[in-house]
Amino acid sequence: MKRKVIIDCDPGIDDSLALMLALSMEELEVAGITVVCGNSPVDMGVSNAKKVLDFMGRLDVPVFAGAKTPLKREYVNALDTHGSDGLGESFLPEIPGYEQTLTATSFMAETIKKGSCSVIALGPLTNLATLYQEDPQAFGQIEEIVSMGGSFRSHGNCSPVAEYNYWADPDGAALVYEAMESLGKTISMVGLDVTRKIVLTPDLLEYMKRLDPHTGEFVEKITKFYFDFHWQQEHLIGCVINDPLAVAYFADRSLCGGFEAYTQVERGGVSMGQTVVDSTNFYRRSPNALVLTQTYPLKFFRLFFSRLLGMAEEDLDLLPVLLKGVVS
Ligand code: BDR
Ligand code: CA
Repeated sequence: MKRKVIIDCDPGIDDSLALMLALSMEELEVAGITVVCGNSPVDMGVSNAKKVLDFMGRLDVPVFAGAKTPLKREYVNALDTHGSDGLGESFLPEIPGYEQTLTATSFMAETIKKGSCSVIALGPLTNLATLYQEDPQAFGQIEEIVSMGGSFRSHGNCSPVAEYNYWADPDGAALVYEAMESLGKTISMVGLDVTRKIVLTPDLLEYMKRLDPHTGEFVEKITKFYFDFHWQQEHLIGCVINDPLAVAYFADRSLCGGFEAYTQVERGGVSMGQTVVDSTNFYRRSPNALVLTQTYPLKFFRLFFSRLLGMAEEDLDLLPVLLKGVVS
């Protein structure tokens, strides 16, 4: 049976890859895309989501604009990482129209209240935090929340300890984690411990282009800037594609493993945005997070390629060869 999801995102290069994956998965019914300020300002995020939908031939999926600023702190975009258009300086043509009158949170509340709807959050948690403030009942009815954000043992990407999505809106993230505790539920934290292992290399991209030039060239167009950024910042030949792992994990639990723990997001100071994971149960508080620490890149790329390219996993015979030595 298809599971209904709202994808809350800030496209963004890896968000766009995640959207492509979600739209290619028969296990998922994407009810709508809600956009939050993050990598790109919200209007640019909306326009990028439409560009991806257009490429996928899925402009029937509605896109809703959400928060323009974080809950409390000033907004800091990540266009240095994602390019001046938020989509790797691909400068794809704008897709006019398809405007929605509902706000992101009204759409979320309306859809969630109809029942059996989950949220995959790929950006800062401002929209979800706002939903909790505006309509806690709807928030409480969300079937499951999977969030790309935070980290446990891995270092940060915005400070020594903080990952971008939670660093960009620490108050929003903290509020969502607190809300989960009060509801006695857990949020799945797909953090840097696992996403850092998902590296799209030039070899993998070349393979994708050989198998399906149309999709491969689109992916190349939007990731080129990201490859250059990773080379300059991290001395890495390839790019870490964080967000598609959250989508993949939502559909297939065997892609990541971890443990449940009480987790708190730091709201300020030198560790702003850090996820403090009580892995040894110091505080004796109920777990509000499922902290994912293991993942299997070959398994992930089998799913990613097969769904994006519409191929059988068995036919992707070069993947194990191309991934050898890339990650442990
Ligand atoms: C996260 O921040 C953004 O740059 C990416 O889209 C991803 O969601 C990684 O820290
Ligand atoms: Ca993102």
